[in-house]
Amino acid sequence: MNNTTKDGQKIQTMDFNASEAFFEQTKIWMQKYKRLMAYYKCAIMEIETKFDVLNEEFSLHYDRNPINSIHTRLKSMESVREKLERKGLPMDLNTIEENLMDIAGVRVICAFPDDVYMLEQALLKQDDVTLIERKDYIANPKENGYRSLHLIVAIPIFLAQEKRMMNVEIQLRTIAMDSWASLEHQLRYKKDVEFTEGMAKDLLYCAQLSAELDAKMDALQAQAKIDTYTFDEE
Ligand code: GTP
Ligand code: MG
Repeated sequence: MNNTTKDGQKIQTMDFNASEAFFEQTKIWMQKYKRLMAYYKCAIMEIETKFDVLNEEFSLHYDRNPINSIHTRLKSMESVREKLERKGLPMDLNTIEENLMDIAGVRVICAFPDDVYMLEQALLKQDDVTLIERKDYIANPKENGYRSLHLIVAIPIFLAQEKRMMNVEIQLRTIAMDSWASLEHQLRYKKDVEFTEGMAKDLLYCAQLSAELDAKMDALQAQAKIDTYTFDEE
């Protein structure tokens, strides 16, 4: 609604009926968004518990923990908005669920590369876990040297009135892969510092060293298993 001041200038005033309706709509949308995020949080809890159980079981049988640590995160509303914008999609709840597979994120840091694949198998064997997408950046590292195993899975969450399938992105990696990835992330996104070609080259070299370290650690681990087995047999 436009009004005019005494000296003839146009001023914009609020149409209270219209703004109230807009406010009401936004409030309802936000409630639905919060509910959807709560479902993703439940899905994160489900997946985290599954890994905790596997870790516990493995530690009972083999007296060591394959999982070093688990980190979880729910994508922030700002990141959701940015990603939708990047993909040219509207900020709509169905669009979010159908197109963004990484709202719920679980990162599992393992002791050895063998553990990554052992945990993957143990998880995917479970009959309530459905594999949607798999990217093996350990067998096929990214050009910059990034290594990790990425899985998108769907799992059910059980609510009072319904069962709902939710997508979760799982990243499995070793301690060496994780320290490389966090350094790379820090260097690439550090404010006021240019990410140079030299830095990229050095990082690639570090990634190769870390892959060698992982391979050696896996070999040692395999040897330790054989020794234990032989000892147990005697
Ligand atoms: P978007 O999910 O749209 O981002 O693309 P995508 O599905 O092709 O990505 P991808 O599954 O390859 O990787 C998604 C996540 O893996 C990122 O959000 C990071 O957490 C991690 N990631 C992938 N590549 C890199 C990398 O080069 N460096 C680091 N530090 N992390 C990476
Ligand atoms: Mg992705």
